[in-house]
Formats: sequence, C-alpha cells, structure tokens
Amino acid sequence: MKITPSGRTLGARIEGVDLSTPLSDADFRTALRALGQYGVLCFPRQTCGVPAFADFARRFGELEINVANLYFERDFPEIMILSNMMGSDGKPLGLNDAGQGWHTDMSYSKDIALANVLHAQKVPMRNGKSLGETQFRNMHAAYDELPEEMKAKLEGRSATHDFEKFWEVMRTRPGSRRAKLTPEQKAKKPPVSQPLVRVHPLTGRKVLYANPGYTMSIDGMDELESGLILDYLFRHQERADFLYAHHWAEGDVLMWDNIGTVHNAVADYMPYEHRYMRRAQVMATLDYPALVA
Ligand SMILES: [Fe+2]
Repeated sequence: MKITPSGRTLGARIEGVDLSTPLSDADFRTALRALGQYGVLCFPRQTCGVPAFADFARRFGELEINVANLYFERDFPEIMILSNMMGSDGKPLGLNDAGQGWHTDMSYSKDIALANVLHAQKVPMRNGKSLGETQFRNMHAAYDELPEEMKAKLEGRSATHDFEKFWEVMRTRPGSRRAKLTPEQKAKKPPVSQPLVRVHPLTGRKVLYANPGYTMSIDGMDELESGLILDYLFRHQERADFLYAHHWAEGDVLMWDNIGTVHNAVADYMPYEHRYMRRAQVMATLDYPALVA
C-alpha cells in the first residue's frame, strides 16, 4: 500500500491495494491513520462490485441506512445511489442533488459518522475535464487557526443541529426531487446537540465541529450572539488555505473524514452529463483511538 499525500491541506492517494479483496489488518490500520492525517483518501482505479465495496466500508464502522433512503443498490439498502441518471423505466436511479452546499453528513444525528465512502461509476466529462468535483475544508486547521479568545468562547459549548435545515434548502431549489419530510421521518431525526469543539478519535486533536448545512444555534446563548458567532465560524471556514477539491475519475473510491472536514458537491454539470456514485456512510462505532494506537 503506497500513500502519496497531495501536499495540500487535505488529500492523499492510496495505491497498491485492490478493494475487491479484504484489507489486511495492517493495511486497515494504516488506512485509518491516513484518514485522520490526510482527511480525504483516494483509492484510484477500483473495480469492486457492490458487495465488496460494502465490505470495505463496513470494516471502518457500521453502515447507516439513510432516513430518507430513496435510492439504493438492489439488496444493499446501506449503499445509496447518488446520480442524475434515469433507469430504463424512466425513473431516477439516484438522488440527483446530494450534498450541494457545505455540510457534514450525520452531524444532525446523535450518533455521528466517521467517514463517507464513495465509488465513482460514472463521472461527467466536458472538454476532457471531469465535472462535479467534491470540495472539502479542513476542520483541524480551522480550529487551530481560531483566535484564542474564540477558542475560549467555544470551549465546552454545544450547538443544535437539525437534519431538516439542509433538506429544506435542497427541497426548495428548482428541479428538486425531494419531498417534504414526513412527521415519521422527522421523528426519526429530531434536532440534536453536538459539542462545537471535539477531540478527533483518530488524531487526538481538536476540530471545529459546526457546518452551515445543519448547525442551527449555539445552545444556551441568546439568538443574536449565537447567530453572530456561527456566521463568524462559517466565514472563517471559508479561508482558501483550508480548501481542497477532489477531481473525480471513474473507478475512484474516495473516503473522507466526516468529523474533521466539511464538504460540498459542486453541481457544474447538466442533466445529460451523467454521474453515478455509490455511497456508504460509516458510523463512528469502533474504538478508533485503540485501533490507531
Ligand atoms: Fe454529504
């Protein structure tokens, strides 16, 4: 297994490993450490099918079955389909607008996720360049670079995150295929409190855990101050030196840290420029500090 860091704030390529067969224990631990260190890992040219992809992802923690699970691979409800393609029956094959806006998956859930894993089956191309990049921001760096007064202000604080915030932003966009959440779906994902600063289980370092997609307000703070601080934090996250973009190629398996990064899917391709991704959501269910020790 060969790891080549991007040399930027996030990102590394991992080659010399075939994900259609199980990772050795040593390679698994190396990948986990790399996930903490580089935040976004690309395993290029992977040809594994759905079962092996699910097995690979499941190695890192239990896989989530999404509350609004509209599209998934046959017999694998834990492998969601992100796609703008239509099936032969004229029905959409996947969720066509997933992640378009800065957010952290599962921050709205009491049990948070360790990582997202995507396998690119079809990547839109134009003039020889791939479209639909995924962007990331480094929340280890964002925390480190906060002024000391702000770190002190955030210490021990929590914020409320709500699944419906981002869902509604997406649902009300033109052309959205999303329906309003049903009371049953909402009841499954009530707003939750999350620490604003958390210790990352892979690195042991502090990260800023707040994102524009789901974070609503800082608990126990008046609305005005809470709004001003969140606005400040979201602007701070936008610093150019915290940004990394992944340009997709078919066959890429991309795994990213869902505690130490925020991400955004860029929608710069047309409905006839086809994209198809398999996605697994890895919940943070293992004893990671022990695994990377
Ligand atoms: Fe996402």
